[in-house]
Amino acid sequence: MIEGPNADSAEYWSSPSGLSWIENEAIMDQLLASVTDKVIERMDPPKGARVLDIGCGTGAHAIAVANRVAPTGSVLALDISKPLLRRANERAEAEGAPVEVLHADAQIAEFREPFDLATSRFGVMFFADPAAAFANIARALRPGGRMVFAAWGPMSVNPWWRLPLAVASARLGSPPPTPKNAPGPLGLSDMAYVKDQLRRAGLTQADVTEATVTLKHPGGSAAIAELSVRVGPAARVIGLFDGTEADRSAIGADLIEAYSAYEDNGDFAMPATLNIIDATVP
Ligand SMILES: C[S@@+](CC[C@H](N)C(=O)[O-])C[C@H]1O[C@@H](n2cnc3c(N)ncnc32)[C@H](O)[C@@H]1O
Repeated sequence: MIEGPNADSAEYWSSPSGLSWIENEAIMDQLLASVTDKVIERMDPPKGARVLDIGCGTGAHAIAVANRVAPTGSVLALDISKPLLRRANERAEAEGAPVEVLHADAQIAEFREPFDLATSRFGVMFFADPAAAFANIARALRPGGRMVFAAWGPMSVNPWWRLPLAVASARLGSPPPTPKNAPGPLGLSDMAYVKDQLRRAGLTQADVTEATVTLKHPGGSAAIAELSVRVGPAARVIGLFDGTEADRSAIGADLIEAYSAYEDNGDFAMPATLNIIDATVP
């Protein structure tokens, strides 16, 4: 059991909402493949590197990185949710990827060996204290080691967040506003805040840059609307206001229409804006 500053997060990520990542693993991984590609391109991990993946979830990013550094390198995939980590382990074993797993809170975990690199695809926005977590991850790296993380950019430039929230709120009402920079999917969306957290972590050689990717899926807007009423901001509004099945299908229908602006030859293709954190340990 995880105790300490992120105990609530551990509970959330092992609850049905967190576990919906397992049910929707295939579609999520397809949509987020371009995010992994962007992080790997930026990190350019050499063969033989020993890499730490933070908040690995069901493991797609850890496995992709492991395949880049194999056969001499490997990845330690860390997550605060035991069920998600179990799934990551199962997948890595099935695919023969050099990935070990660790159940821990990245903000306070103790590491026995120095890593060359730390990476993450959307696993670093949930810390109760981001500066403390970045400092702890920096301690896990050798001098000159690097961390390269992808976090979501602001809602205003991410229809992936803005549209389902707007569509579900139009039917059921708006959820209470999230306090600025609160831990959550958009918790590191403000670049100035992220830079300040990195500075407070003692990471003076740190960059935060915007990157754009395309979230793609061959299922078109209908498949993505179906996903959105189960995971993400629309699902959250439906849960918060005890939405009925009728609400769910009405929101799904409105989302198909809203997402149709992001169809390209029948495929779903939506631009997304990321904040890429790239910091080197002195
Ligand atoms: C949005 S999911 C991303 C999962 C995965 N990286 C992916 O892209 O498929 C966020 C992940 O971060 C993990 N997480 C949240 N807070 C954490 C913490 N303090 N320490 C370690 N993992 C954490 C969650 O359990 C969850 O698996």
